[in-house]
Amino acid sequence: MNKLRLTLSLLIALAAVPAFAQTSHTPGNPPSMMREHAAREAYIDDLMRRMTVDEKIGQLRLVSLPAGANPDRAGFMADIREGKVGAVFNTVTPKDIRVLQQAALQSRLKIPLFFAYDVIHGQRTIFPIGLGLASTWNLDAIRQTGRVSALEASADGLDLTWSPMVDISRDPRWGRNSEGFGEDTYLTSQIGAELVKAYQGDDPAAPGSIMAVVKHFAAYGAVEGGRDYNTVDMSPLRLFQDYLPPYKAALDAGAAGVMIALNSLNGVPATGDKWLLQDVLRKQWGFKGITISDHGAILEMIKHGVAADGRDAARLAITAGADMSMSDTIYGENLKPLLDSGRIGMADLDRATRDVLRVKYDLGLFRDPYRHIGPPQNDPPDVNAESRLHRGAAREVARESLVLLKNQGGVLPLRKQGTIAVVGPLAKSQRDMMGNWSAAGRTEQTVSVYQGLANAVGERARLLYAKGANVIDDPEIVKYLNLYEQDVDVDPRPPAQLIDEAVAAARQADVVLAVVGESQGMAHEASSRSDIVIPDSQVRLLKALKATGKPLVIVLMNGRPLALTWENDNADAILETWFAGTEGGNAIADVLFGDYNPSGKLPMTFPRSVGQIPIYYNHLNTGRPFDPLHPDKYTSRYFDATNGPLYPFGYGLSYTTFRLSDVALSDPSMPRGGTVQASVTITNTGNRDGATVVQLYIQDPVASISRPVKELKHFQKVMLKAGESRKVTFVLDEDDLAFYNAQLHYGAEPGLFNVYVGLDSQDVKQASFTLK
Ligand code: NOJ
Repeated sequence: MNKLRLTLSLLIALAAVPAFAQTSHTPGNPPSMMREHAAREAYIDDLMRRMTVDEKIGQLRLVSLPAGANPDRAGFMADIREGKVGAVFNTVTPKDIRVLQQAALQSRLKIPLFFAYDVIHGQRTIFPIGLGLASTWNLDAIRQTGRVSALEASADGLDLTWSPMVDISRDPRWGRNSEGFGEDTYLTSQIGAELVKAYQGDDPAAPGSIMAVVKHFAAYGAVEGGRDYNTVDMSPLRLFQDYLPPYKAALDAGAAGVMIALNSLNGVPATGDKWLLQDVLRKQWGFKGITISDHGAILEMIKHGVAADGRDAARLAITAGADMSMSDTIYGENLKPLLDSGRIGMADLDRATRDVLRVKYDLGLFRDPYRHIGPPQNDPPDVNAESRLHRGAAREVARESLVLLKNQGGVLPLRKQGTIAVVGPLAKSQRDMMGNWSAAGRTEQTVSVYQGLANAVGERARLLYAKGANVIDDPEIVKYLNLYEQDVDVDPRPPAQLIDEAVAAARQADVVLAVVGESQGMAHEASSRSDIVIPDSQVRLLKALKATGKPLVIVLMNGRPLALTWENDNADAILETWFAGTEGGNAIADVLFGDYNPSGKLPMTFPRSVGQIPIYYNHLNTGRPFDPLHPDKYTSRYFDATNGPLYPFGYGLSYTTFRLSDVALSDPSMPRGGTVQASVTITNTGNRDGATVVQLYIQDPVASISRPVKELKHFQKVMLKAGESRKVTFVLDEDDLAFYNAQLHYGAEPGLFNVYVGLDSQDVKQASFTLK
């Protein structure tokens, strides 16, 4: 498909309200849908009658065939031809995928494979990482990233993505923060649901759509100490109130699948957790889709200490409700003997098989196994062709994802003139700009910060470059980061020499841009950190740059909240850019030069130091809350450091200024089942057009259990011309006030509620009303 056609289909797809409903027979379903469901079940009944046990087990096997791997490796193609494989992931071109599908169609029952991939923040075009997307607070923009991802993935022959990742995290040490949407339940739920609808469109089988698999169910983001794969121990209240809703929101939006978390939850590995996978997911939530274990997770139940051996692990997983096993042979080897010995029932196998077949049916693969693959004559001559990218969309979203953390004396925006020193180990990095899980994105197609700046200034300004430091000097850490992928390129020159070179550049410049932070591999799976500062090598560089006395602008690239106290005290400006994707460098230049006025807001609290973790805005008040205005000794605080975050949740500056009026409520009370409207007027009081995010938080100050000091319930991103005012109205209903009580009953309790509206979570205006 050429670029124009892709763009056209994108526009059409964006116009359609995505409404693919989950495969459930709810009474509200229209008769046509009921008929479709009946037809599907009849089709599957017929197939199931003809399948042998081995063929059913084959459907539960999900295997990885990475690009470049040999599909002819021993047994691989034979397994497919014998119906011993249900689906493949990590193969990403129509040409390669076609070969595998052809093999599947040579199997006895010709059951097609489906093809999946980690399309997390883009496929060929890479968008900002999850934290960056969340920083836009712009659901339209996020939907567009999902549509483009789906278009590009389906044009590559893919059917399904392991996304969205909606794990709430309150611990910046965890490397996988980068993939998710931050600490807030409401924001994450909104984004997850939006992405599901964008991926799946009206029909996940349609060209241009793919199926969504929400992950990692459940509560993976709460691993102890932020150590990946670790234990999660959490009260049911917190689980239901804060951690489960985003998965539920994604399923309500129609997500066809669920990937099961690697962690244990309250002692039970999620992969073998019947309560989670059946009672909550199927019975309470009515989920009818597919569940997929994460990489090797079934076997890991031995190490978790709940399975004696592989057979025992397979029994636990299948009886708990894990349909497909990812990247292992555990189901293949064990389900038959388990059946024969009566340790599992045929019903367990049938249920899982049916879930897989249903996905294939809904993907339209029984009607046309080459649905997304297309005929060979349509194969793109070059899968990496420039014409297959959506650079415009990538740049637009990327610039909205940037968060201005500090801008003292209006040092930003810069003028496109004079001499600008661009220093730092990430300044010219294309690989890091893509971030982790960058799917089929190509380094060489990615715009680095330096390149973006050069594109912007052309001949008008002089750019000087020096690397200044390595990302990290510790050789052991470099070795770890480079274990599976070349993550960090080490300049062998002595650190002092690198710094001297950067200082020399800075001395000749009018302003210094220091592009520092983390390599993409430092904020990834298996990339937990015990500290969250910028590595020493780079801080030494920053200190030397500061000593030159030149205006210092820090451009951060990183995948988690960092502790930035020195940087905040010493830099003139700080721009958080996360890992901004294919068009990152251009987007960053847009903001640095004021061609785009920054509007991003933090989706996670930035602590002052690692010792403050966990720190999150929607905490409980405690009996002895710390009050920064009247700091008492016997209050909940640290005595050896400033308390409170460095940058609060929802925070982000603009090149213009905004004024918010008091909050006006339509009524002093809300009747049961009724609504109250909360309005504010927002004025752009500066002299530049700009966008900001009006955030509404609710507090239930007296309830049957302690409730958070505030919780995000609504937000609106508004664009205002210089001097313009706009009234923003939020409609509050009972659901905004509801919570799980000590008995885990969900509902709103009568009494007073506080409404807070602000442009971040800390600086807010207050009003109150009562619920009858
Ligand atoms: C393991 C990761 O935890 C999961 O997020 C990912 O989707 C799978 N591997 C497949 O790559």
